Amino acid sequence: MYGMLSLAARVRNVDPIHTPRAHFPGAAKVCGSRARFLMGVREAYNQWAPTYDSDRNLTRDLDELVTRSILADMQCASILELGCGTGKNTAFLAQLGAHVHALDFSDAMLAQAQAKLPHAHVTFTIADLMGPWPCADQSADLIVCNLVLEHIADLHFIFAEAFRCLETGGHMFVCELHPFKQYLGIQAMFQRDQARIAIPAYVHHISSFLDAAAHAGFVLAELKEWWHADDREAPPRLVSFLFEK
Ligand SMILES: C[S@@+](CC[C@H](N)C(=O)[O-])C[C@H]1O[C@@H](n2cnc3c(N)ncnc32)[C@H](O)[C@@H]1O
Repeated sequence: MYGMLSLAARVRNVDPIHTPRAHFPGAAKVCGSRARFLMGVREAYNQWAPTYDSDRNLTRDLDELVTRSILADMQCASILELGCGTGKNTAFLAQLGAHVHALDFSDAMLAQAQAKLPHAHVTFTIADLMGPWPCADQSADLIVCNLVLEHIADLHFIFAEAFRCLETGGHMFVCELHPFKQYLGIQAMFQRDQARIAIPAYVHHISSFLDAAAHAGFVLAELKEWWHADDREAPPRLVSFLFEK
């Protein structure tokens, strides 16, 4: 746990690539009245890793249910997971795929995932998704990406790399915080002591996902919007896309 001063001292490593851009006026709003810090994406996830699984997080919990319901009937030879984090979905993917290759650039998040999944058919690699992926052309028949793309400025690069790595006829499943939530100023954040740590985020409209995927060559198979049972009359919390190559 970090006090506010030591935390402030840690905000030295802000990655300029991930400085948030206010694509939409609500995007940069500060939520709540407690002190809030912004730090680089990788550093933030390194610090969040020890409590990511145990913190109250309706978005994380809903994402797990959604992923299990959409992908339940798939059986795959080779699954590529982008931004696997602590392996919340990797455990499920390990049941669907003969091999799972999970990427993330936070070594602390990856360490949690590796500790949970010491299976021979699950491989973890530290990799920044904004650089060329350590994956051969057409090496996966399913690519899965959950709650990651809000931290990525350039969706076109992600979909182009996914298209390269996916076999013809393969699928890409994406589940992300719904932009309606982002328009209200909501973004990934966690708490350390009395401070809230907000993680740099980019607003991607529904049309931005669709355009970037189509530009790469994908065809949309399914788009769905999702609410947690506690959301009641609120806007949708998540949006999911199933694309086909
Ligand atoms: C909210 S967590 C989601 C983790 C997991 N997919 C899940 O659903 O629980 C976002 C993850 O994306 C990773 N991430 C964000 N930007 C990344 C990048 N440029 N390259 C690799 N991983 C990235 C973070 O390290 C973090 O583990």
